[in-house]
Amino acid sequence: MMIRSKTVYLGSYVHSVSLDQLEHVEHAIICVGETGVIEWIEHAGAEDLPAVSVRRGLVLDDIEVVELGPDEFLSPGFIDTHTHAPQYPNNGLGHGVPLLEWLDTLTFPTERRYKDVEYARGVYERVVQTTLNAGTTMACYYGTLHLEATQALVDICLEKGQRALVGKCSMDRNSPDTYVEYTSTAISSAQDFVASFPHLHPAVTASTPSLPPLVQPILTPRMAISTTPELLTSLSTLAKSFDPPLAIQTHLSENDEEIRTVGRLFPESKSYTAVYDDFGLLGPGTVLAHCVHLTQEERELIKEKDAGISHCPTSNYFIASGEARVREMLDEGIKVGLGSDCSGGYAHCLLPVLRLATHVSQSHAFANAQRRAYKPLSMPEAFYLATMGGAALCRLDNVVGNFVPGKEFDALRIKPRSPGVWVHKGEKVEDRFAKWIWAGDDRDIREVYVRGRLVGGSSR
Ligand code: GUN
Ligand code: FE
Repeated sequence: MMIRSKTVYLGSYVHSVSLDQLEHVEHAIICVGETGVIEWIEHAGAEDLPAVSVRRGLVLDDIEVVELGPDEFLSPGFIDTHTHAPQYPNNGLGHGVPLLEWLDTLTFPTERRYKDVEYARGVYERVVQTTLNAGTTMACYYGTLHLEATQALVDICLEKGQRALVGKCSMDRNSPDTYVEYTSTAISSAQDFVASFPHLHPAVTASTPSLPPLVQPILTPRMAISTTPELLTSLSTLAKSFDPPLAIQTHLSENDEEIRTVGRLFPESKSYTAVYDDFGLLGPGTVLAHCVHLTQEERELIKEKDAGISHCPTSNYFIASGEARVREMLDEGIKVGLGSDCSGGYAHCLLPVLRLATHVSQSHAFANAQRRAYKPLSMPEAFYLATMGGAALCRLDNVVGNFVPGKEFDALRIKPRSPGVWVHKGEKVEDRFAKWIWAGDDRDIREVYVRGRLVGGSSR
């Protein structure tokens, strides 16, 4: 392993300090230790570095100094809480095709190809590097049914340095003959996938590594329609055989026809959400994607179980699923993050997702008769969802999500340079940040750091 020195970043930064509050710091010194953990932050300018370093016991000759340009700033990395790595080759295809037809005609035929591990490697290398360059420092990935291809995705995340939860998808019914598992195989290959993470081996866990593993498994029953009760029960048992239980991800309440089908398949359960609860799959580590058509009762169940929601507005519009009620979810104290849901969603970068999240919420405010009482999602709130909200959803809010000493340095160095972002000399960081969020794109993301390691950016 490469030995790194401490690094000091000099310049501006913006991050979330609460759901609706951003902190904009014009002049800061951020010290990142050899392991990539933020050691301290001072609100001071570059000219103060000699004095600060004496006080902090830093020997300037021994550290690397990264001085940001006057128009640049740091942002925490984005956390994409729901995306399908094998579907990126389809991004942009299928506009308006309803979910179940979209799965049969576009998605399953594409995912079937990952039986070929070499093909999978090629796609996954591009997915991981492209999303890193677009500012996704952490992703919650679905793979395919294939064990080896999904293990390749894990290896590639580790090689390229992207933080991730990776799931081998599980499906044992109501799927094409050529893209389905026997129940017994679905169970054993989910077990084998988890067992291939060496850090989950009891002997390794006992030696308590100082930092959490960069890549961890997440159990991935695709959705209630495509999983038998036996498989759901086994995955719940597997999750609970670890302490804390393994993370779990699935789709929930995305599309009307899907919801009606779930009602027919699971007549004993009170609701779609209750299906997952009845099989012991709802808990603090559960990430539920979409949640477009939830009833109040279902939201209460999610809250009670401390599960959370990945809001995927680009997908919910692109394949015409509907509009999720994020304001209500947040008011009720449910954890919410953002998901690109590629290729149900068309955007690989979280910026368009974040923007659309505010617009969907604004349309709810427009439609509300007492609209002055309805608070649409603000940009700071949507940014929180893209960073801290995602971290909390993935149980990593003590590790990443904003710039706090003790957390890991997962950061974007933003240099405004895309044609839509016009920054003038001396413009304050609050405005440079707003211009990037609304008018910028991934060309403005000059460098991307995960755990202090430079892993991407627009020059790559
Ligand atoms: N429901 C089940 N599978 C999928 C998928 O791949 N994408 C989306 N958006 N919804 C799903
Ligand atoms: Fe999805």
